[in-house]
Amino acid sequence: MDDLRIKYIDAIAAAADEAALEELRLQAVGKKGEVSLKMRELGKMTPEERQVAGPALNALKNEINSALAAKKVALADAALDARLATEWLDVTLPARNRRVGTIHPISQVTEEVTAIFADMGFAVAEGPQIETDWYNFDALNIPGHHPARAEMDTFYTHRAEGDERPPHVLRTHTSPVQIRSMEKTGAPIRIICPGRVYRADYDQTHTPMFHQVEGLAIGKDISMANLKWVLEEFFSAFFGTEVKTRFRASHFPFTEPSAEVDIQCSWEGGTVKVGEGDDWLEVLGSGMVHPKVLEAGGIDPNEYQGFAFGIGIDRLAMLKYGIPDLRAFFDSDLRWLRHYGFASLDQPTLHGGLTR
Ligand code: PHE
Repeated sequence: MDDLRIKYIDAIAAAADEAALEELRLQAVGKKGEVSLKMRELGKMTPEERQVAGPALNALKNEINSALAAKKVALADAALDARLATEWLDVTLPARNRRVGTIHPISQVTEEVTAIFADMGFAVAEGPQIETDWYNFDALNIPGHHPARAEMDTFYTHRAEGDERPPHVLRTHTSPVQIRSMEKTGAPIRIICPGRVYRADYDQTHTPMFHQVEGLAIGKDISMANLKWVLEEFFSAFFGTEVKTRFRASHFPFTEPSAEVDIQCSWEGGTVKVGEGDDWLEVLGSGMVHPKVLEAGGIDPNEYQGFAFGIGIDRLAMLKYGIPDLRAFFDSDLRWLRHYGFASLDQPTLHGGLTR
């Protein structure tokens, strides 16, 4: 019994892993293990012999079992130690350099515009970029034969052969959201709608896809004076300097009266500066919402009136950040994006100042 004891206790101490340990357990105390076989022999012994051998064998079995358990724990500890040693990491080391993405100037300016108008109580509304003929044109008082349809260089979608309904269009302006907002909430309304618009046009200042922000305010006593104040507030906050505006009589089918709005600027050495000098730069179309448009949106023109405007976001971005060519905005050239992009954590807010 002593030989068995020495044999197994030494072997267990020397076992290299859990598999070797299990092998030893089977050899010693498994069903056909050496200790188990010895226990079977107890039956053939005399009661006196058994009284001595029985407890001794039990003690041996217990001793081997505890040695196995202790070794199992020791092996697990050693494995953990080994892992801790190899997977050790110095978190105080400086981080590796990573390329960081930037916020596109269009996104930045959209955020800035939204922050300024939010401060004046305008909520943000949205509409689909693929519009019906009705929302993009008819509801805005642009009937089928109206020249404005041709002027807008509209992209039309295809209808299936034999489908006589008018095709959907890629919206040519954000004005259809005026109608959608009127339908959705009724009067009063105070919203802006920034988004993508499409026209078949391409040169240094035109791309087939560009961005506008629509403004719409409807109430019982909203006037052109409110429009002028809101726009001057907006431009002054946006450019960070007082900006005068000039209203020129114009024509849009969906406003009456209509005005194109210029902002004060100077031209020096080929660069524009907004808010100084005595030149003017056209930046938006606006006017009092046409009664027919209010009606199309389900609002009674005898009770309500309001103003609307549409500004080119890309144009604003070019002016504020001195970006010369509109086409480069949508080329996805990483060098351009790194140069003109904004740090992603610099969210524009009114209190933080709008620029970086
Ligand atoms: N929708 C017009 C355009 O795209 C701009 C505009 C909007 C004019 C609202 C007046 C009122 O040119």
